[in-house]
Amino acid sequence: MTDGQDKHLPSGVRRQVLRGLCAVGLAFPAAPRAQSVTGTASPPAENDRLVFAYGERAGQAIAPGDLALGAEQVFAYPMDPLTSEVRNGTRLNQLVLVHVDPAGLSEQTRARAAEGIVAYSAVCTHTGCDLTDWDTETKRFQCPCHESQFDPSDGGRVVGGPAPWQIAALPLKLVDGMLAVAGEFEGRVGFQQPGLDPLGGLGT
Ligand code: FES
Repeated sequence: MTDGQDKHLPSGVRRQVLRGLCAVGLAFPAAPRAQSVTGTASPPAENDRLVFAYGERAGQAIAPGDLALGAEQVFAYPMDPLTSEVRNGTRLNQLVLVHVDPAGLSEQTRARAAEGIVAYSAVCTHTGCDLTDWDTETKRFQCPCHESQFDPSDGGRVVGGPAPWQIAALPLKLVDGMLAVAGEFEGRVGFQQPGLDPLGGLGT
């Protein structure tokens, strides 16, 4: 987890608490927020810049060098380059970025990557928790609620747990040396479970 995110509870304990809350429908755990959610809810658009979502650098543009190879994910939002408005009006625009070994990327994922950086929706496709955990050995996103795992090197595909489909991928490119959006989400953002609305009723 990045600066400003909660590390107070041991991960095992936090996972148990989150599982319990999800089981009774009390929580869709979200990454702690260091800035208010006032931006637009319109979806990412080509040429949007990516900015840090939380911490001391919230709102600042992200360069490839800000992400260490193999390190845990950084949370980000797209920002309209013309208005500087951050598209953080909905959780559905929240992204997780990681720097993965380019040699291990699937062909499709390589086409979406910028200097080894890949971007995905931060919303787990099972019941909508934020993908706040990272398996340092396998280099995979792990959901804190029911331990679904997603492979960022291979299109965000599900490699464990109850998630029904892969996380949506957002193509990237570089503009003036900074990370930017190269196209629309590829795949389905959000989640859908019996008894819950499509996109999880996440709202904003
Ligand atoms: S919300 Fe259940 S595994 Fe992510």
